[in-house]
Amino acid sequence: MLKNTVTEYGWVAIAIHWVMAITILGMFGLGWYMVDLSYYDSLYKTLPFIHKSIGILLACLFLFRFIWKLVNPSPGPVPGQSQFEQVAAKVVHWAFYFLITLIPISGYLISTADNSSINVFNVFKVPATITSIPEQEDNAGIVHKFLTYTLIAMVILHTAAALKHHFINRDQTLRRMLGLKLS
Ligand code: HEM
Repeated sequence: MLKNTVTEYGWVAIAIHWVMAITILGMFGLGWYMVDLSYYDSLYKTLPFIHKSIGILLACLFLFRFIWKLVNPSPGPVPGQSQFEQVAAKVVHWAFYFLITLIPISGYLISTADNSSINVFNVFKVPATITSIPEQEDNAGIVHKFLTYTLIAMVILHTAAALKHHFINRDQTLRRMLGLKLS
């Protein structure tokens, strides 16, 4: 089943969810590590090149994910969820979409502030467009960092909620995002 139904996630949504989850966590680690590298470190140029290239590809995947979400039904809440849990899950999911839109945009604004394009794995380039924001590199950098920390805090909350559903409530919330047969 490729597409979602009103009760289950299809394989496209499941695959994109997990690919993005793993990539986002990897990008966070990479970003954290690379900002402290000194100019004389051999990875000083390589890691930002990888971080920016993956960031652009992630933004493209996210665009596809968002369109896919709009043209697919969203599985409803699993039976037994309280009204509060349903609203909290919706708020967190939409906050993820909001943050995953703004984080690559702020990253793009940091990298292109000096009018240079972003070279994506030496395959194609994304040109600079907006370069006139005052202190663009620094301000976009502050926004990028703040939004990323917010995202990671939400990922922790979201993961805790998923595990609580699985191990305490013993419901189908995590199983259906893993594509396991609903019991
Ligand atoms: C960077 C990491 C992650 C992000 C950005 C993320 C984002 C999202 C989003 C946006 C949705 C809503 C999908 C939709 O209906 O459109 C979702 C659903 C879900 N996620 Fe994640 N997720 C992440 C990591 C994880 C992890 C680590 C787990 C579990 C260990 C998890 C478990 C789930 C489950 C079970 C659902 C389905 C919830 C439901 O059916 O109501 N996610 N996630």
